[in-house]
Amino acid sequence: QITPVLMCGGSGTRLWPLSRESYPKQFTSLKGGKTLFQESVGRLSGEGFAPPIVVTNSDFRFIVTEQLLGAGIDPGAILIEPDRRNTAPAVLAAALHAFAEDPDALLIVAPSDHVIPDADAFRAAILAGTERALAGDLVTFGIVPTHPETGYGYLQLDGEAEPGKPAPLSRFVEKPDAASAVKMLAAGNYLWNAGIFLFTARAVITAFEQHAAQLVDPVRKSVENAKADLGFLRLDPASWSAAEDISIDYAIMEKAKNICSVPFEGKWSDLGDWNAVWAESNPDSDGVATNGNAAAIDCKDVLLRSESAGQQIVGLGLDGIVAIAMPDAVLVADKSRTQDVKKAVELLKSQQ
Ligand code: GDD
Ligand code: MG
Repeated sequence: QITPVLMCGGSGTRLWPLSRESYPKQFTSLKGGKTLFQESVGRLSGEGFAPPIVVTNSDFRFIVTEQLLGAGIDPGAILIEPDRRNTAPAVLAAALHAFAEDPDALLIVAPSDHVIPDADAFRAAILAGTERALAGDLVTFGIVPTHPETGYGYLQLDGEAEPGKPAPLSRFVEKPDAASAVKMLAAGNYLWNAGIFLFTARAVITAFEQHAAQLVDPVRKSVENAKADLGFLRLDPASWSAAEDISIDYAIMEKAKNICSVPFEGKWSDLGDWNAVWAESNPDSDGVATNGNAAAIDCKDVLLRSESAGQQIVGLGLDGIVAIAMPDAVLVADKSRTQDVKKAVELLKSQQ
């Protein structure tokens, strides 16, 4: 059995103003119906999967339980981070928790904000990686890149790759600058890192010991001294505060030698920024994407969304613009700058 580890403590600032500190995008539904988090746990449930370990923070704990209940999923554990330290400490905490029960537990670490419509193909890709993972590799999942995205990790293939079969990697490059992203796309032997990882608890803990040893003590202590609180397991705040704020990609994936990748050919979107939402929103032949309350006249390459029922948004003669209206905030941005929306959030925070 594979134990899913669901990461859902991020704040999704690049999707502001839909995604908020108090209610980030993974708990919202962009198209109505199940939320991204519910879809994500659902994809990793059923035959072959153990109950998930969910790693989140205190603010989101009741949203998590409510949404798990709504999806009919019983969690194995809900770990609560005392504060946000990015994904490396979160994954390490989950791995240490799992290790205590079974050192060779097979973990599939997944974000909770992705769109992967073909869940069966995705589960088949995971199964294809289990043999390498059980042999001690850190298995990634590779997506064929379509543009020089700077918000993703890049996996350099070491030789030929076949869809659905693990392939060796020579390099992992997290969030390259624009020029390197263009080069890697042109080189043709790179895949995007899907942000989903398969490994045993033992293998990933070993990787942390080798490449990010500074994290191991604080995180181990915070797991050992965790306190059960209702259905939650609260990691110990004092030890946690000594853990570095760093993502798993920088902490271990860029450094590890024992990495491989299963190329995944199914549809995948990280919905990381408004440009990704635009691509997911069936833009017409002019590149115009709107939701129900929005209308576009003579527009090209735009995303227009109104997120409240009584509010209309109309674009006229726009080119390359994203406009998102919430009842209390409106974003109007150059469509090529959507990765920078987090800067807007930082600015607003600094003004508070
Ligand atoms: N529990 C917890 N705690 N979860 C977190 C935290 C945290 O402090 N920070 C982020 N997360 C969760 C987010 O909610 C999200 O589901 C997931 O971890 C990934 O974090 P992101 O912040 O969205 O990462 P990213 O998109 O910039 O980059 C990662 O994903 C890309 C693909 O989507 C990297 O793995 C890239 O290499 C990859 O290409
Ligand atoms: Mg992301």
